[in-house]
Amino acid sequence: MADFDLIVIGAGPGGYVCAIRAAQLGLKVACVEGRETLGGTCLNVGCIPSKALLNATHQLHEAEHNFEKMGLKVAKPKVDWEAMKAYKDDVVGGNTKGIEFLFKKNKVTWIKGWAQIAAPGKVKVGDDMHGAKAIVIATGSEPSSLPGIAVDEDVIVTSTGALTLGKVPKSMVVIGAGVIGLEMGSVYARLGAQVTVIEYLDAITPGMDAEVAKAFQKILTKQGIKFVLGAAVKGASRDGKGASVTYALRKDDSEHEIKADTVLVATGRKPFTDGLGLEAAGIELLPRGQIKTDAQFATSVPGIYAIGDAIVGPMLAHKAEDEGMAVAEVIAGKHGHVNYDVIPGVIYTAPEVASVGQTEEQIKESGRPYKVGKFSFMGNARAKAVFQADGFVKLLADKETDRILGCHIIGPGAGDLIHEVCVAMEFGASAQDLALTCHAHPTYSEAVREAALACGDGAIHM
Ligand code: NAI
Repeated sequence: MADFDLIVIGAGPGGYVCAIRAAQLGLKVACVEGRETLGGTCLNVGCIPSKALLNATHQLHEAEHNFEKMGLKVAKPKVDWEAMKAYKDDVVGGNTKGIEFLFKKNKVTWIKGWAQIAAPGKVKVGDDMHGAKAIVIATGSEPSSLPGIAVDEDVIVTSTGALTLGKVPKSMVVIGAGVIGLEMGSVYARLGAQVTVIEYLDAITPGMDAEVAKAFQKILTKQGIKFVLGAAVKGASRDGKGASVTYALRKDDSEHEIKADTVLVATGRKPFTDGLGLEAAGIELLPRGQIKTDAQFATSVPGIYAIGDAIVGPMLAHKAEDEGMAVAEVIAGKHGHVNYDVIPGVIYTAPEVASVGQTEEQIKESGRPYKVGKFSFMGNARAKAVFQADGFVKLLADKETDRILGCHIIGPGAGDLIHEVCVAMEFGASAQDLALTCHAHPTYSEAVREAALACGDGAIHM
């Protein structure tokens, strides 16, 4: 008889959520995790520590730039980098301990160590063999560097090393204008580093609505971040105490070099499946290394499932969480489901950027008739009161049915504002449904309603 109904491999947002939900559904569950603490990349070296640093440096920015405007006179703030990192570590510790508590509460067994799939229904951890009726692989992802760049996590770092730099660099080159590059680039720019972002494409944040990406780049440039776009990085190497990065401009192939104290490589992530024994177990992979799954998260081997960053789709903690809950329900004999059309994406800079559904470019390409309702935070009293009136809400709706197709927000609290649109989309709402919903005054949310009004007879405050 199997020891467990389910063994989940990996305790990141996908794995731990899956384990808890499966236990709630009455299964006997174990979760294997080799790190010292639970929570995976997100809690330990990703979403959570970066948000702590983003918060601390945002407060610094407020003190330096906006306090005096509000009649607050304080001495010039000083940065104690070691204390800031300790605050970040405290935040991480509190959260990882929280997952440990939830495991105990839900009677999920934490098997400490690195798992190897020995056979369907058999998971080896160290010298011990554990049996399970079902296995879920939730092993996440790891940074993928570029050929010609040797990451040392000291001077040439990934997002992991960028959280623990020995000191605040005077200059930083960020390779890749994606989410990690811009969030961590913002942190160090606010701490006083001269940050230069080098991006292969001609725009920042690939896949984002082009109008929002353009406005975002303008705002970040105003904050002091420099951008070199259309530039392919060829290599980076240690150079004295710092490093030098070489790149070629795509328009004329001209070669350039830039030196910096620190180089952050933020060119994407790849599935982390090392040592799992996937090949021996006969689990099929896709050409880019993700585990192949069907709509129910089943791999090519019966009884073995996979979710999160290790399979296809956006590499987002909340996408993994939703898949974790869904696969637990499938394994428990229920109907798990993830709506991939309504997965929000958020960049936690200041201002935040958030989106859900289709971009204007995607709708145009589909040939569907559409309308755009836009509202600037300049017309939002609350945003103006806190010096955050840069940015706007852009709502896209079907021209004939008025059904909401997508929403893109750059502005204060965008990462929270987006969720009323997510709920509306889940219910198949029209722009008018949002426009007719009373929104409290004065809130940032009014900007979302105004964008919905702009899809109809017009916004009021614009
Ligand atoms: P990314 O895929 O978002 O961006 C990588 C960027 O690097 C792209 O713009 C790409 O064009 C550029 N690039 C690639 N090769 C290059 C070269 N040779 N020279 C110049 N530029 C080059 O990847 P990122 O930022 O590393 O993030 C990894 C994953 O983690 C993403 O899937 C992201 O969604 C996720 N993530 C999400 C966060 C959030 O939701 N707030 C926070 C952090 C990460």
